Amino acid sequence: MSNLEQTLSIIKPDAVERNLENEIKEIFKNNGFLIVKEKKIQIEKSEAEKFYKVHETKPFYSDLCAYLSSGPIVVMVLEKENSVLANRELMGATNPKEAKEGTIRKRYGISIDKNSVHGSDSVENAKIEIDFFFKD
Ligand code: CMP
Repeated sequence: MSNLEQTLSIIKPDAVERNLENEIKEIFKNNGFLIVKEKKIQIEKSEAEKFYKVHETKPFYSDLCAYLSSGPIVVMVLEKENSVLANRELMGATNPKEAKEGTIRKRYGISIDKNSVHGSDSVENAKIEIDFFFKD
């Protein structure tokens, strides 16, 4: 049965800074994702804190929010069959050192913080994250 889903993807500051935006978008398109919406923005730390609220008790929360707001990012709504899982597989493990060959984080990630891309971790969070950036 068809299960067309949307997921939220972010090209993070480390990747935008290295001009990897188009290369990463091509990887999504070549893997069958449709980029339904996209915008390049820079957010305030307070907005990053709202976006990453699920991580607020983690020791890395403040650095994570400072990092996401440190430079321009590209936020995209990606559409494909089972896109939440498909995007997580294409991104690879959170820590680039553990990511498999052929994944975006293996190819471009610098560290667990500067791991080049974010992707929603569940269908439920995808809806919340898409609304966060694109509800108007
Ligand atoms: P992301 O998928 O954007 O979701 C939360 C981010 O926290 C994650 O990618 C990492 O970049 C970052 N992070 C930093 N330290 C850790 C850690 N120890 N475990 C998980 N995520 C971490």
